[in-house]
Amino acid sequence: MNEYFKAVKISDSVYWVGAIDWNVRSFHGYRTERGTTYNAFLVLDEKVTLIDTVKAPFVGELLARIRSVIDPKKIDYIVSNHAEMDHSGALPEVIAAVEPEKVFASALGQKNLKAHFGEDLDITVVKTGETLSLGRHGLHFIETRMLHWPDSMVSYLDGEKILFSQDAFGMHLAGSALYADEYPDYVLEHEAKKYFANILLHLSPKILELLDALPSFNLDIAMIAPDHGPLWRKDVGRVIQLYRECAEQNWKDRALVVYSTMWKSTEKLARAIADGISGTGIRTEVMSLEAVERSAVITAVLASGIVAVGTPTMNNQMYPAVADILTYSRGLRPKNHIGAAFGSFGWSGEGAKLVQAELAAQGFEMPFEPFSVKYVPTEKDLAAAYELGAGLGRKLLEKLGR
Ligand code: FEO
Repeated sequence: MNEYFKAVKISDSVYWVGAIDWNVRSFHGYRTERGTTYNAFLVLDEKVTLIDTVKAPFVGELLARIRSVIDPKKIDYIVSNHAEMDHSGALPEVIAAVEPEKVFASALGQKNLKAHFGEDLDITVVKTGETLSLGRHGLHFIETRMLHWPDSMVSYLDGEKILFSQDAFGMHLAGSALYADEYPDYVLEHEAKKYFANILLHLSPKILELLDALPSFNLDIAMIAPDHGPLWRKDVGRVIQLYRECAEQNWKDRALVVYSTMWKSTEKLARAIADGISGTGIRTEVMSLEAVERSAVITAVLASGIVAVGTPTMNNQMYPAVADILTYSRGLRPKNHIGAAFGSFGWSGEGAKLVQAELAAQGFEMPFEPFSVKYVPTEKDLAAAYELGAGLGRKLLEKLGR
């Protein structure tokens, strides 16, 4: 038995055997400022079962944690709830080490795993409503297609009442503490919302459908064990409710002014607009795209009812950093926002107009014309920018019925 990388017992027959990625700071472009974990779970039953694996470089840590409780060769089944490589990257090496009797995945999981690792991979398909008997316990499968990959599914271990939810209800948060109730609320709330905003926001309608359907599966859930971040053993309803609130995207009473600037003129407008919004009593945050990266911006968008976007005009276009965040937003499809476009220009002035058109195309309500200023804003321009902000604030207050 190894002296480090121990499994952690989470119930009578289940152990956490995942890996901690303390220092990852970019997760396919998502800035993971607190690192992450790749959770995997070992069920000790008559059929010893491994649920999910880890990102490929962490295979040694996974196998070491398994070895701390059982010889990996004793594993009979491997279940792959999700084919993305942060959970399946280690699968070929684990299969080689374990030589399991069977590997289970959804039909699309089978297809996607083969597409990643080769047609020779032998996968047994399971479907929603099927139960795999492990001996004392049954493992029940529910496919969650497009939440967030076509292959995604969750599995529920009866008896222990654990929902292995793959990416769902997870967050990118590395830590030696395994349970959500061991972390400060502000950390959990921030990281869960950031995860939702960056990974799941565009899937909100499907998430609401799934949450509405959840009672029909009659699951008595004592613990939610996601594939990233802490496990929920107390008040599992709290994270379910948090997901519902995020997915509903109701109007928020906060504002975001986000901009890029060339010679500080667009920045001056941003500050004046923000002051005008906050003057109406709306809490307002200002983010320069030179200082703040896209995953923090989209998290702030989720928390805001107003999003004002500022850009200089460069070579007849909006600034590249602004195009980046608008492209990111287009894919994530945030809902229920009043938008505004503004910026400084030198001679042609297309930037703010292009931002206006893009925000309108994304479904932002755009009550005002794009606000553009030539070269450097005058005092009069800044007063007009303040008034634009005040107008945006009043529009949001109307929406909120205040
Ligand atoms: Fe954590 Fe979609 O993989």
